[in-house]
Amino acid sequence: MVSTDSGRNAATFDLPAYLAERRAQVETALERSLPVVYPETIYESMRYSLMAGGKRLRPILCLASCELVGGSLDIAMPTACALEMIHTMSLIHDDLPSMDDDDYRRGRLTNHKVYGEDVAILAGDALLAYAFEFIVRETKGVAPQPVLSVVQRLGKAVGAAGLVGGQIVDLASEGQTDVTVETLNFIHMHKTAALLEASVVSGAVLGGADEIVVGQLTRYAQRIGLAFQIIDDVLDITSTPEELGKSVGKDVEAQKITYPSLWGLSESKQQAQQLIQEAKDELASFGDRRQPLVAIADYITARTN
Ligand code: FPP
Ligand code: MG
Repeated sequence: MVSTDSGRNAATFDLPAYLAERRAQVETALERSLPVVYPETIYESMRYSLMAGGKRLRPILCLASCELVGGSLDIAMPTACALEMIHTMSLIHDDLPSMDDDDYRRGRLTNHKVYGEDVAILAGDALLAYAFEFIVRETKGVAPQPVLSVVQRLGKAVGAAGLVGGQIVDLASEGQTDVTVETLNFIHMHKTAALLEASVVSGAVLGGADEIVVGQLTRYAQRIGLAFQIIDDVLDITSTPEELGKSVGKDVEAQKITYPSLWGLSESKQQAQQLIQEAKDELASFGDRRQPLVAIADYITARTN
């Protein structure tokens, strides 16, 4: 068992054990978050995607940043679960025939392949609405203002100023050969980094972080968010469906402009590495407490799925 005190250092920090412990805690909380009641079909469809595994990176980041600023896991767990509900919703909709038309996600058939498109759309809608209800209903021991701030940050991260904005520019860029690196950055800062940023910052806000810390963690999250996407693009070329649990080679097939298509594989990996270094530099003032967030940043470029 990994202790959660601030005394561990880089040499002794065991990231696999830390991630396994946090993942198990998140799985337990998610399992309890969504019982199946009437009308069963919609709850089963929501649970099918929510409980399909995954790295649980967003909840873990939220919990880690709450602990970084001295907060407890309990106060951030409802928001951690809500982040996974929102992320799951975005993937259900992203996989729909009208968007990326994918058959596999997290190693199993996509939601619409099992339940049909109509139910999958509704499952996404219901998960999104429930995420906000869940934060407000389940967050205990935190003053109303930080909870409102979290709700506002998540709303922004999901809407046209976040996920939806990134997705729409992504869809509009498909098949275009003149996509610039600025457009690619816009897509990923919104489609990927916005929710990662909300995950990190929400945990810190619930834990009582001040504006300076919120600024440091915002910059940390934006950099790991972009690096995460660069590595996603790299893995789409270098990985296998078995490793990723979803189809690979889709970007090349759809003639999508990606970081590797603009920079090549080697330069893409180097750029991701540089972003990760900058992200870690933002955490310099936190002493040993920063170890989980430092190790997670390193894991983003080292990951194979
Ligand atoms: C995966 O990207 C998709 C996302 C990160 C989010 C997509 C956002 C939406 C569908 C907007 C949903 C929001 C609302 C409120 C309905 P990808 O296709 O590049 O990666 P993949 O290979 O994992 O599919
Ligand atoms: Mg997709």
